[in-house]
Amino acid sequence: MHKIDIELVEMTMDVMKYAIDRISASNRQIGHPKAAEELKALVGETITPKGIGGEVAFNLWKKHLMNANVSIDHPRHLAFVPASPTRAAIMFDLVTSASSIHGAYWMEGAGGIFCENEAMKWMVSLTGLPKGAFGVFTSGGTAANLSAIVTAREYWRRLDEKNKNEKGLIITSIGAHSSVKAMAKVIDADVLYVDTEDKMHASNLQIMIESLTSNQRKRLFSIVATAGTTNAGIIDDLKGIAEICKKEKLWFHVDAAYGGGALLSDSVKHLFAGIEEADSITIDPHKWLFSPYDCGAIIYKNPELAKQAHEQEGSYLDIFKDEGSQGFNPADYQIQLTRRVRGLPLWFSLAMHGTDRYKQAVERGIELAQIAGRLIEEMPHVELVREPSLSCVLYRRIGWKPEDYKAWTYKNHRKGFALVTPTKWKGGDTFETVSRFCFINPDTTEHDIKMILESMV
Ligand SMILES: Cc1ncc(COP(=O)(O)O)c(C=O)c1O
Repeated sequence: MHKIDIELVEMTMDVMKYAIDRISASNRQIGHPKAAEELKALVGETITPKGIGGEVAFNLWKKHLMNANVSIDHPRHLAFVPASPTRAAIMFDLVTSASSIHGAYWMEGAGGIFCENEAMKWMVSLTGLPKGAFGVFTSGGTAANLSAIVTAREYWRRLDEKNKNEKGLIITSIGAHSSVKAMAKVIDADVLYVDTEDKMHASNLQIMIESLTSNQRKRLFSIVATAGTTNAGIIDDLKGIAEICKKEKLWFHVDAAYGGGALLSDSVKHLFAGIEEADSITIDPHKWLFSPYDCGAIIYKNPELAKQAHEQEGSYLDIFKDEGSQGFNPADYQIQLTRRVRGLPLWFSLAMHGTDRYKQAVERGIELAQIAGRLIEEMPHVELVREPSLSCVLYRRIGWKPEDYKAWTYKNHRKGFALVTPTKWKGGDTFETVSRFCFINPDTTEHDIKMILESMV
């Protein structure tokens, strides 16, 4: 199966044709899941001792399996944090796969890592972090947040021997992404929440720190602020929180996995003031920097601290640290050893299009949120829950109950028209089910938004 024969040549052509068609398609289907039993009934047994052949397997994919996926880059896929990778980045994802690069160490992946680092330098420059700051690409925001909190926890433990036996504690707000809690579980740390889904203000954080027991206070090692909450695009009071972290000697992590792309935008950049004081920042290029999955990134003010936390040791790895193979080793700065050079598609797309085009595409997402806000205000059956923030819009259909939102979501999805999902918004002490748009795709139009809102009448 590692030899070149006629079947392989034909399959290569088929795969390339499929990829070209998919990449250049302007009218994609939104796709809809089917039950696993239904898919099994459609495709039958695919893994057999002798193989079913590339052509048969590929036809099954095209006919039955591909459409059981949601095209997350569909212009009316406005749920969760959607994606909209550039065609150049997708094409270079193919090149990345075809090039078989091990992206852990410079010795093996110098060319790819060089490209990643060029893209990373640009990302770091957006944050305003001081000279020396640098980062690496990860599989996503979850892995980036984990890499950051491991670095923070290890630093805290190195600072004082006594911390070695302590369970760490993190403070964030309930607006933080679910991965913060999940990753705290991975490192067996506790999490306390400032009780707001809206902007986390420094004053509320200070009150919480002052209310800690002495045991909690000595275990507190990091504050996680969010720059662009997943639910509503809210940016915490980064400046004020940075000051508290400095005063209280706490690691300041900013989760800008979704919002980080907006650092490119002249219209909202001021909202991020204070991010330049972070110890670590998560930004996901697979969200608002138009990269294909999967591509997150973690950036450190002092990468040496990350290296102290993450560098792996083993006699089989010694050669990578030898003088003869000097260079930047991404494996030293995050949780993964073997890694794809997943920043490569971003590098190619940036190099091809230039950073100005990225800025325009991000500004369009923010503009679409404003357009949606205006349309919602003009229509009598819907109303804004809060002003649009970044590219997120929370709105309610007047008179609807949670089950109405759910039924509407499924109906539109089944029809192949749109995927817009409900969420919950905490106002006061109660959680209200509402509808939410998140705009990433610059191909979404005002007409798309209008049609979706009209489907709620
Ligand atoms: C603010 C924030 N942080 C972290 C994540 C997790 O990122 P990923 O799904 O790439 O692991 C998300 C995902 O939506 C997010 O919005």
